[in-house]
Amino acid sequence: LPADVFQQRLLTWFDDHGRHDLPWQQQRTPYRVWVSEIMLQQTQVTTVIPYFERFMARFPDIASLAAAEQDEVLHLWTGLGYYARGRNLHKAARLVMEAHGGELPLELEALAALPGIGHSTAGAIISQSSGRRAVILDGNVKRSLTRLHAVAGWPGRPAVERRLWALAEYYTPHARLADYTQAMMDLGATLCRRGRPDCERCPFDDVCVARARGEERRFPESKPK
Ligand code: ADE
Repeated sequence: LPADVFQQRLLTWFDDHGRHDLPWQQQRTPYRVWVSEIMLQQTQVTTVIPYFERFMARFPDIASLAAAEQDEVLHLWTGLGYYARGRNLHKAARLVMEAHGGELPLELEALAALPGIGHSTAGAIISQSSGRRAVILDGNVKRSLTRLHAVAGWPGRPAVERRLWALAEYYTPHARLADYTQAMMDLGATLCRRGRPDCERCPFDDVCVARARGEERRFPESKPK
């Protein structure tokens, strides 16, 4: 599928059906986007929202987070689970104060070197908070791309992962980066779901290779035993 066609269809769908009123889409600062992306790594949007609001009320900036005791950070994390995320966020805030003058670095490698931030999360933070071009490949995006192209093999395999990064890179536009990133997340979360994908509403229904084969539920393949 030509990249420009993909982008146009996705962004048109996003304008009509994507999420535009999430708290971290208002006041899109690097810090707010960072905290939201960490919370969203293993937790759904509707669960994250009240935790995000409480977190921002108590820790409005990186300095206040870095100055806090770890116990208080983890207390605000209670119920979200995966507490390593909270510990890493706190540790990273202290590193940003010490090594980056209190400003989250918006270069891919510097961001991805911080605890809790992998390459996809770094791409999500850069694209959503600065609008600069950065590629994301989280679980949502992997699922959509493996179906669109019927990519065989478990996505944890290095060869499969490399192919998915190449596809993600190919489709990433040079404009509207924040919307594109959110649109990819929304597509995976609301239509191209793991169970019961909603192909009838999908803007790629007619070009999805897995769909053409009637095999959308088979992708992505699971880890071989
Ligand atoms: N999962 C990770 N990042 C997300 C985002 N920005 N919106 C929805 N789900 C997400």
